[in-house]
Amino acid sequence: MELIEPHGGSLKNLYLDSEAAEAEKLKAQRYRSWDLTERQVCDIELLLNGGFSPLEGFMSQADYSSVLEDMRLADGTLWPMPVTLDVNEAFAGESSVGESIALRSPEGLLIATMEISDIWTPDKAHEAERVFGANDEAHPAVAYLHHQAGSVYLGGRIKGIESPIHYDFRSLRKTPQETRDFFEERGWSRVVAFQTRNPMHRAHVELTFRAAKEVKANLMIHPVVGMTKPGDIDHYSRVRCYEHVIKNYPRQTTTLSLLPLAMRMGGPREAVWHAIIRKNFGCTHFIVGRDHAGPGSNSQGEDFYGPYDAQELVTKYQDELGIKMIPFRMMVYVEDRAEYVPIDEVKEGESVLKISGTEFRRRLQQGLDIPDWFSYPEVVAELRKTHPPRHRQGYVVFFTGLSGSGKSTIANALMVKLLEMGGRRVTLLDGDLVRKNLSSELTFSKEHRDLNIKRIGFVAGEIAKNGGAAICAPIAPYAATRRQVRELIEPVGGFIEVHVATSLEVCEQRDVKGLYAKARAGLIPEFTGISDPYEAPEHPELCIDTENCTPDEAAQQVIIKLESLGFIK
Ligand code: ADX
Repeated sequence: MELIEPHGGSLKNLYLDSEAAEAEKLKAQRYRSWDLTERQVCDIELLLNGGFSPLEGFMSQADYSSVLEDMRLADGTLWPMPVTLDVNEAFAGESSVGESIALRSPEGLLIATMEISDIWTPDKAHEAERVFGANDEAHPAVAYLHHQAGSVYLGGRIKGIESPIHYDFRSLRKTPQETRDFFEERGWSRVVAFQTRNPMHRAHVELTFRAAKEVKANLMIHPVVGMTKPGDIDHYSRVRCYEHVIKNYPRQTTTLSLLPLAMRMGGPREAVWHAIIRKNFGCTHFIVGRDHAGPGSNSQGEDFYGPYDAQELVTKYQDELGIKMIPFRMMVYVEDRAEYVPIDEVKEGESVLKISGTEFRRRLQQGLDIPDWFSYPEVVAELRKTHPPRHRQGYVVFFTGLSGSGKSTIANALMVKLLEMGGRRVTLLDGDLVRKNLSSELTFSKEHRDLNIKRIGFVAGEIAKNGGAAICAPIAPYAATRRQVRELIEPVGGFIEVHVATSLEVCEQRDVKGLYAKARAGLIPEFTGISDPYEAPEHPELCIDTENCTPDEAAQQVIIKLESLGFIK
């Protein structure tokens, strides 16, 4: 057996003791406050408890540049991922080197203070190239960098006051010191860590069994519950699944602990980072399988990283990592042997079964069979609760079209038909109705129109999230705003955009409310179609030609669409 330094080497603890923390709290009353973003809350928790040892704060510019270029801190220590405090220009403008600032959770809790040592404006395109291999916004971390991260970075050491609070799964959230103590108390001198951001099925259990057996070690299932890839299954559902799965392991050999990490989906660099983090948690071995922390495909439709790039990079730095990688080829199910094996152990002529992540989600969505060889009935049942098939999901029918195009009439007809069919609660968010109740103070300027649509989108999203049907019928003239609403709703339910494509001429001819006449006479400014643009949807789920059908027929077209998409059964 090779010798591995047990329990991860030296561990930082950036928390002040209680007396010093009280004193710092008093001082911090005079500091300017920065409200940490969701990602920064994750980062700071792992900085403070030593999960990111040897870091002692948010990176300085020298460390940042060195991490980008050489994957090392300025002092030469291996570290693959920038951990920076990004802020907006307004906050940065008032900041100065030497100043101390208060870092607060979104709820206002004082988490830490930081003495600013560096202020700089990063070249984000360069950061994306160096860290993620491409400045391509199909990569979730690159999109985050360009659209969510602030434009200025602050660096500095931090002094911890209080850990970010979690109200969920408290007994499962161990700090690095706690996992080290746990291992020591039990005499676990060799511990394999398993990283995951997905529910665990049989392949993962087999993989971890094999790994533990191979190196004669105990096992820590260490799933990420901070931030993962957008669109992943929520961590609440996943943790309930892990709690089922853990029962399949011998009780004395395996433990489950949750990691509040904000993943970057950085593939190879991320794998090295994950290994360092697990070393800090006291593990001696770390599993890297196929496509570790993979972000999927780029804007050309090709994978950002090769399936075993992560293993290769970890191998390159194996000697200085202080934790040993256990690499795995893809695990597949061999039907003839009724067992999982790495793909390189499949014999010629044996038939293998696979269900990809995408295929699994499709089956969940449509309520289709998920076989026992793939997962555990308890896991599938758990996931079906929070991910019901489409006919039990909420959805939003979003009508868009010119004033007088017939949106409201069709929306009303649709609502009545849906109520007649039963099954879901239905809410109508008609343009006029919303303007009266939700947005009465708004004008028709571009800014206010956008705000109005965003409010409608927000309310509709909440309705869909809770399983209801929302029918929206605003003009919604701007494509970008409609896209934002779609992006808000699609993760929580169906979004069916319906273009009521009545032409301007016909709308103007009908002029039911006399608005076109007034707009032509210059009495209504910024009137859609006359003095303000209407950007027709390019790919709506449905386009209705009201000139050749009655409102009844139009509503029927929507119902057929809902049926074909699986929302009505
Ligand atoms: S990841 O983003 O955390 O890497 P995931 O939770 O899917 O995604 O994977 C967790 C770990 O299990 C990774 O090391 C990954 O490579 C490995 N893994 C997942 N599925 C398989 C599989 N079928 N075969 C081999 N390794 C796998």
